Amino acid sequence: MLVLGIESSCDETGAALISDKDGLLADALYSQIDMHRAYGGVVPELASRDHIRRAVALIDEVLIKAGRTREDIDAVAVTEGPGLAGALLVGNSVAHAVGWALGVPVLGVHHLEGHLLAARLSDPAPEFPFLALLVSGGHTQIMRVEKFGSYELLGETLDDAAGEAFDKTAQLLGLPYPGGPAVSALAEKGTPGAVELARPMIHSPNLDMSFSGLKTSVLTAVQSAPDPNDEAFRANLARGFVDAVVDVLAAKLIRAMKETKLKNVVVAGGVSANRQLRTRLTTEVRRRRGTIFYPPMRLCTDNGAMIAAAGLARLEAMTPEEREALKAKRSFGVSPRWSLAGL
Ligand code: KG4
Ligand code: ZN
Repeated sequence: MLVLGIESSCDETGAALISDKDGLLADALYSQIDMHRAYGGVVPELASRDHIRRAVALIDEVLIKAGRTREDIDAVAVTEGPGLAGALLVGNSVAHAVGWALGVPVLGVHHLEGHLLAARLSDPAPEFPFLALLVSGGHTQIMRVEKFGSYELLGETLDDAAGEAFDKTAQLLGLPYPGGPAVSALAEKGTPGAVELARPMIHSPNLDMSFSGLKTSVLTAVQSAPDPNDEAFRANLARGFVDAVVDVLAAKLIRAMKETKLKNVVVAGGVSANRQLRTRLTTEVRRRRGTIFYPPMRLCTDNGAMIAAAGLARLEAMTPEEREALKAKRSFGVSPRWSLAGL
């Protein structure tokens, strides 16, 4: 079975082709980051309009890369949610137009299931059950993944997501959007411990987290600095911020390993590309005789490959009748808010 995956939930348009026999054949991505950077964050209407411009070209690109034609496609998988409503509608309109034209089923995929399953595109791939830390721009969750499709939420942020905290801190430090890579690079130049920020909820007896207070601490530090533009000060503040986020995520992940006794750990979502976080979590998990898995670096942030992979897994789990029913469906919607635990 050859599945075309389409992602358009936020500021990246992605397309990919995956086959049940040969794995990921091709993927292509267009990032809108340069366009949104001028505004300091994603402008939803601009995102939607740009997805329209890119989607079909990216589908053609993956077909050429994989040496396949449109007629080879057996099914289409598209991000149905969560995400920006307008942006999702573009991807879903294209996906359903392709599906109806080719007479193949179109399946709506949960974006976070895509992030989680991206780790299964790594070699070696994690076996079920595993513990998952999902850290993206919109979500920060710890989950028990018993088997494919079974996601139990164990804890999550009560306010900002980790990626959002990176993005807001970047703004306060005058760094470009998206903040993650920029704050991380600046932190590399800082001295550990020079600026100590609070670690909210690090000792709370559960797996919940909070990151909005950190942004306030960064703001206070910037406002009270004698020279907020001083390079050493900015680097030390970035370092203090990254270390605080990493400490909280590491503490919660360790607690989750203890509570669940799970040894296989998957870290996914945009923030899983962070070097400081990867170094720390890898050490902590190995120290506890666990095995840690990440998606391939380029598949940590949003992409079409993870949607194609999640779509293929779901289609394979369906009966032929269920796939036929999907093919016969003549309506679609999007789910801008959609809980993974409810799948
Ligand atoms: O998963 P993703 O691409 O989109 C969402 O589903 O939200 O995650 C994007 C988030 C952004 O907040 C971005 O700043 C963060 O991931 N991010 C990083 C890094 N690369 C991306 N955060 C920290 N370090 C990075 N290297
Ligand atoms: Zn994402």
